[in-house]
Amino acid sequence: MPSLFDPLQLGAVTAPNRILMAPLTRGRATREHVPTAIMAEYYAQRASAGLIISEATGISREGLGWPYAPGLWSDEQTEAWKPVTRAVHDAGGRIFAQLWHMGRVVHPDYLDGDAPVSSSATTAPGAAHTYDGKKPYAEARPLDVAEIPRLLDDYARATRNALAAGFDGVQLHAANGYLIDQFLRDGANHRTDAYGGSPENRIRLLVEVVERIASIAGADRTAVRFSPNGDTQGVIDSDPESVFVPAARALDEIGVAFLELREPGPEGTFGSTTQPKVSPVIREVFARPLVLNQDFRAADAQAALDSGLADAVAFGRTFLANPDLPERFRRGAPLNRDEMATWYSRGPEGYIDYPALEDEAEAA
Ligand SMILES: Cc1cc2nc3c(=O)[nH]c(=O)nc-3n(C[C@H](O)[C@H](O)[C@H](O)COP(=O)(O)O)c2cc1C
Repeated sequence: MPSLFDPLQLGAVTAPNRILMAPLTRGRATREHVPTAIMAEYYAQRASAGLIISEATGISREGLGWPYAPGLWSDEQTEAWKPVTRAVHDAGGRIFAQLWHMGRVVHPDYLDGDAPVSSSATTAPGAAHTYDGKKPYAEARPLDVAEIPRLLDDYARATRNALAAGFDGVQLHAANGYLIDQFLRDGANHRTDAYGGSPENRIRLLVEVVERIASIAGADRTAVRFSPNGDTQGVIDSDPESVFVPAARALDEIGVAFLELREPGPEGTFGSTTQPKVSPVIREVFARPLVLNQDFRAADAQAALDSGLADAVAFGRTFLANPDLPERFRRGAPLNRDEMATWYSRGPEGYIDYPALEDEAEAA
């Protein structure tokens, strides 16, 4: 049985351990969505992860509706990512960029008042983070079929920029109720054309986007993230297995580097559900590396490897608060707890000041 500390081949990239850093939005870029110097320090501190998956990064202005989140559509953004990837590589790490189009959860404030785009004319529940505080979501405009080539071009440009910026690969964000998920799941996709209805139609956009990304990065540097179960930002499916199993099979055929699944959390938390987990069924049809996420600690992560359900585990909040997480796991050392108040706050506090074990030893 592999240990969490054994290497793993993720397509073209060799992860020296199976403790990955899950994508985490932190809101430390500029208002123009340009990465900043502290982001290089933050990611370099976490370079001992088997692989870092970056915070979700906008592929286009249309697709990004999060204050101070980074993008990858402009030359300025691409240039500003270079010191980040260099710092990670200099510290011995590897980093994929998570490519993000938020679809209907982009507030019109980010779009000069225009409606956001989605699979169908639906409105996300709740309120958007804007520069002027929280505001209710607006009704989305269904993407016209004629616009899909332009959307694919946006993903292609972001992929080219990610590679030019020095990322080792990209992960398509197809989870958590964002654009691709709004097409995948029947709770949000009410289309009657070739992109709606049957599971085959609902996975069409996913497959087109992944094929386009893979044509640029290579399938072996292309990864995907799903959250198949539960309600995420109002997006849910009546029968997740029926759509995520063929989706995983299609990704296997394309030959992606790995698939990451965010599993349902405990009752009352983001994405919690009474639906049975789809991950064991996906495991049967997806022969490539499978990464699981959500609420793992060292022991249950190792148990997931032992039971054959996963090849690696991605850690979100624990990596946020513990820059040297693999070493802490190796030593069975205590973990810092993450501070929710600074998840998205600007500046270094709660960002680059979580101590590593050696900092704690020096302070003692
Ligand atoms: C502050 C914060 C930011 C997040 N940002 C992203 C993101 O940008 N992309 C994404 O796919 N998931 C995002 N997530 C979800 C995490 O990747 C992960 O699925 C979640 O934290 C559960 O894993 P954990 O129990 O190990 O923390 C975020 C979660 C948190 C707490």
